[in-house]
Parts: sequence; structure tokens; C-alpha cells
Amino acid sequence: MTDAGTAQIARAARSLRDGALVAFPTETVYGLGADASSPAAVARLYAVKGRPPEHPVIVHFATVEEAFGWASEPSPAARTLARAFWPGPLTLIVRRAAHVGDFVTGGQHTVGLRVPSHPVAQALLRAFSQGSQPARGIAAPSANRFGAVSATDAAHVQGDFGDTVDLVLEGGPSEVGIESTIVDVSRDAPVLLRPGAISAAALLQVLGASLAEKDAQSPRHSGGLARHYAPRTAALEVSAEALAAELERRPGRLGVLSFAEPDPRALRWIRMPREAPLYARQLYRSLRELDACGAEALLIEMPPEDGEWAAVHDRLRRATA
Ligand code: TXA
Ligand code: MG
Repeated sequence: MTDAGTAQIARAARSLRDGALVAFPTETVYGLGADASSPAAVARLYAVKGRPPEHPVIVHFATVEEAFGWASEPSPAARTLARAFWPGPLTLIVRRAAHVGDFVTGGQHTVGLRVPSHPVAQALLRAFSQGSQPARGIAAPSANRFGAVSATDAAHVQGDFGDTVDLVLEGGPSEVGIESTIVDVSRDAPVLLRPGAISAAALLQVLGASLAEKDAQSPRHSGGLARHYAPRTAALEVSAEALAAELERRPGRLGVLSFAEPDPRALRWIRMPREAPLYARQLYRSLRELDACGAEALLIEMPPEDGEWAAVHDRLRRATA
């Protein structure tokens, strides 16, 4: 399918201004967008997604300047990270500007900001904002039902929401494949809230200082729930040995995500790449495919826990929780 064209983008921007919900591609996952300045549009967004109202949502902009128009005195760390990684797969939690509504922050004093790089997202954000002051932003959680696997393809969004979403912009499969890295820069020391394609090592290199651990004062976030990003079918973490034993016990009934060659005793087997970025790109599509194959359980061979695998490991741990 071809990416959304100029006429469709203009229509989408108009629809958003009229309070509609528009799903759009980003380089991480698809977002389900609403006018971040409209309480009614955001309320409908939460209702359609099935998200509890106290969970904050990320607001998207075309440029760093527009994004920081929604912050109150962004810290040096916020500016450094924005300069290094925006547009890109990074979300910054900053102290919010006075005009930012409680309905996008879950009543917290911070707001999540992101400047995505996907050309369709960029075009939509520009058309929607049109240089307004402060800039108009698009509130967008991942375009999946609350707690379920994120959408990395326009077809996933259609499948999850059908006609309850007013428009779905096409932008091909998401390149990164998992949600943005989230860093809280609203306090003295930056805190990594959600690992993503931009690794802790990459953040460290740019900041020149280490990240602090999450603590009781860290802002609430739904991706922090133990079970999240999960398929409907029960998903279990397995070692290579346990996998063989389970296949022996339940032939023809299991879906498997593994690094190894397919075993014919599985109902469906997806072999995953050994490179973390490629694995991330295919992860949600693969989980959705396994979820739809009619297996009684999904078995997942876990990748390493650390380094460049941290984000993939985090999502798999929550999917199997
Ligand atoms: O890659 C992404 O980040 C995608 C694309 C569409 O941008 N969006 C995304 O949104 O993953 P969502 O809502 O599914 O996850 C955003 C996470 C949630 O865990 C939310 O609670 C957290 O960010 N969050 C948003 N604003 C926050 C805030 N002010 N403080 C703490 N956490 C926040
Ligand atoms: Mg999500």
C-alpha cells in the first residue's frame, strides 16, 4: 500500500481539528491521535482505547521548538536529549506549561512530549499545527486496545478498532517496531522509565552522566504495569529444553517464538532474528500472528536481558507476565 498523500493528510488534519480520532504511523508503532487541546477529543480517545483516565498520554509535535512550547523551563538534560534524538523514538517527561490540560497528563505536573521522525507523522503534525502559538499537538497512545500488543501496521489498527476510529493513515510497517524510549527529565537526575530503541548506553553517552533509578516519586505510567503489551493467548517464557518437552507433551497445539529452526510439532513457529533491532521490528507482528493461529498457549524463548536487548526483553517479560 502507498503512504498517505497530501490530500489525505490535509483531510486528517481537518478531522483532528473537528475532534475526530485519526490513527497515524510513527517510526516506533502506530499512534491513535486526538487534538491534545480538546478535552472532548481526548475523552473519546480514552474511551475508544479502553484506557483508565488517570493514565497520561504522550503529546506529539513536528519540531523541538513546538514540543518545548508545552514544557515549563525544560532542563539542560531535556534540551540535550532533544537535540540529540528528536525527531526520533524518544519521549521526554517534562514539567508542563500552564496551558497543558489535566486530561492529557492524568492530573500530574508533567507531560510526555515526542517528536516522531516518520514522514507521514511529520506531515500530519505540520498540517495540524500550522504554526499556531502555542503549537497544536496530537495526543496519541499506541493504536491498540489497552494492555494489548501495539500496532505496527495500518491493518493492525483497522483490525483492532474498525469504524470506531475516523481515519487510519497508511505509512507502511513501523521501522523500529516497539514503543519509544521514555526518559523523565522533570527532576534533577534523568530517569529511564521505559527502555526502547535508544538504549541506556546511548543516553548515557549524550548526557555524560548516568541515569537515576525509578523511585516512588517517578511519574506513573501504564507501560510500567507488570502485564502489558500482551497477546490474548496465554504466553509463557521457556528455555530451549523446556520448549522441547512442551512440544512433546502438546503436539500441534502450541505457537512458538524462537531463535531456532522450526520444529514440526508446533502448530505455528516463528523464527526470530538474532539482531535486536530486527527482532524488535518483527516482534508485535509476530505476537499478533501467533495470537491468531488458534494455539492453546504461546511459548517464547527469551533473548538476553541486557544491553541492546533490554527493550525487547522488557516487552517480552510483560507479554509473559
Ligand atoms: O512510541 C511511542 O511512544 C508511541 C507512539 C505512538 O508515539 N506511543 C506510546 O504511547 O507508546 P502509550 O500511551 O501507549 O505509552 C506511553 C507511555 C504510557 O506508559 C504513559 O503512561 C507514559 O508513556 N506517559 C505519558 N505521559 C506521561 C507522564 N506525564 N508521566 C509519566 N508517564 C507518562
Ligand atoms: Mg501502549
